[in-house]
Formats: sequence, C-alpha cells, structure tokens
Amino acid sequence: MQLNIYSDYHALSLRAAGEIIDLVTNKPNAVICLASGDTPRLMCKLLTERALKEKLDFSRCTFIGLDEWIGIPPESEGSCHFFFQTLLFDPLRISPAQIHLLDGMSKDPAQECAVMDKTIFDKGGIDLMIVGVGMNGHIGFNEPGVSFENYSHVTDLNDTTISVGQKYFSKPVALKQGITLGLKHLLESKKTIVLANGQKKAVIIKKVVEENISTQIPATVIRMHPQGVLMIDEEAASLLKKETT
Ligand code: F6R
Repeated sequence: MQLNIYSDYHALSLRAAGEIIDLVTNKPNAVICLASGDTPRLMCKLLTERALKEKLDFSRCTFIGLDEWIGIPPESEGSCHFFFQTLLFDPLRISPAQIHLLDGMSKDPAQECAVMDKTIFDKGGIDLMIVGVGMNGHIGFNEPGVSFENYSHVTDLNDTTISVGQKYFSKPVALKQGITLGLKHLLESKKTIVLANGQKKAVIIKKVVEENISTQIPATVIRMHPQGVLMIDEEAASLLKKETT
C-alpha cells in the first residue's frame, strides 16, 4: 500500500478527482466505483468542474455505487443515490444505462446483491474504487468483524455507523441495515484508493496504518491491495508515527 499525505482537504480532493480524470482519459470505458459521504464531496465537485471545463467524455464509463442504506428511498437527501445523482450524474449528464447503484428499497436485497456482483463481473471488474473510511474503520457498510472474502451483501449496521449516519439527514432517521459491495470487490479492483481528511479521522487512520491487519478494522484491508493507496490530508495523518510517514 502506498501512503500519500496532502497538505489539506482541497489538495487531497484535487488529486482524487485527477485520478478519475486520468483513468477515463486513458480508458474511456472505465468501470469506476465510488463511495458517497462527506469525504468525497469536494472531489466530486472538483471533478465535475474540471470535466465540464475540459469537455471530458464520460459517455462510455460505468459508475458503480459502493453502498446504500436499507429502507431509505433514493430521493431522500441522505441516501447515497441522492449524493451521486446531484453531485455527479446530473452535472456530468451520465445516462441511467451507465449507472449501477444498489437499491435500498428492493424487496429482494439478496437478488440486488447478485445482480450487482454479476454486473461487475460482466464488465470485467472495477478499474478504480475510491472510498472513504468510517469512524469505526468501516468501508462502505463493511462493518467491524466483516469477512474480507465477501462480495455484495446486506448487513446490520454497527452502532457507530447508525449514530454518525444521522449527519446526512436533516431529521433523525431509523437506520438499521445497509447493502454494500464487499471487501473482496475492493481487493479485486485494479486500483483502490481510500480517502480520509480532517482531525476527526486521525485516530482511525492511526489504527488503519499502524495496527495489525484485521477484520475488526475493515479499512486495514487496503494494506493487502498491491495497488492500494491511502490518500489523507495532514490533519488525518497527524497522529501517525514519524517513521510511518
Ligand atoms: C458512504 C460509505 C461510508 C463512508 C464512511 C465515511 O457511501 O461508503 O463508508 O465512506 O462512513 O463517511 P464520511 O466521508 O461522511 O466521513
């Protein structure tokens, strides 16, 4: 795993957006999987600004959503659907045929997972995954204790995920389960980038980098990926031992 530390959130987000642009420039039919959440918000904004300015062609790309809250409809402001639609797909005019998001309202979530796994397989795998890390070390809804061998699955949410998740909604919501790609997808993606910014992520980033690789800290999985990159800003890196950085 490579560790890249940027001066601040803007510099980090600019580089992350640049990763997507570089990929699509070299591989116009790239398969890209992204997380939603606060971390990639600026990356999405900078990506769309640059893409529109440079008239980049995304028409042959495929976009995969990392996860979704079970029971939260796509039009809810806190859903992953809403995030992608408003920050990426609408501004970049990505057509529905290019978009594959897990449906948190599906009557048959197991089937939803099977369809997602088949879609990824049929597309030849994911070229680039850019994900965030939760305060509990989760990636997507791969919660502490999850197997590194899972593909898409439905999971009960960890207490931390439930309480932190309220920040995406204007009113309190009952969050219980999530539907998510698995860490096996992350390991099989040709390149995977984990992003983290801010002082609030410093404690978990220290664990991700310095503790043993363990399913209890799912994000440690990035250290097993030959093309894994941990991209963080100086605040998130602030507790790392000098010799690690
Ligand atoms: C969201 C997702 C989550 C977040 C993580 C960090 O699609 O997959 O795992 O990446 O909870 O969230 P933020 O970026 O809001 O700190």
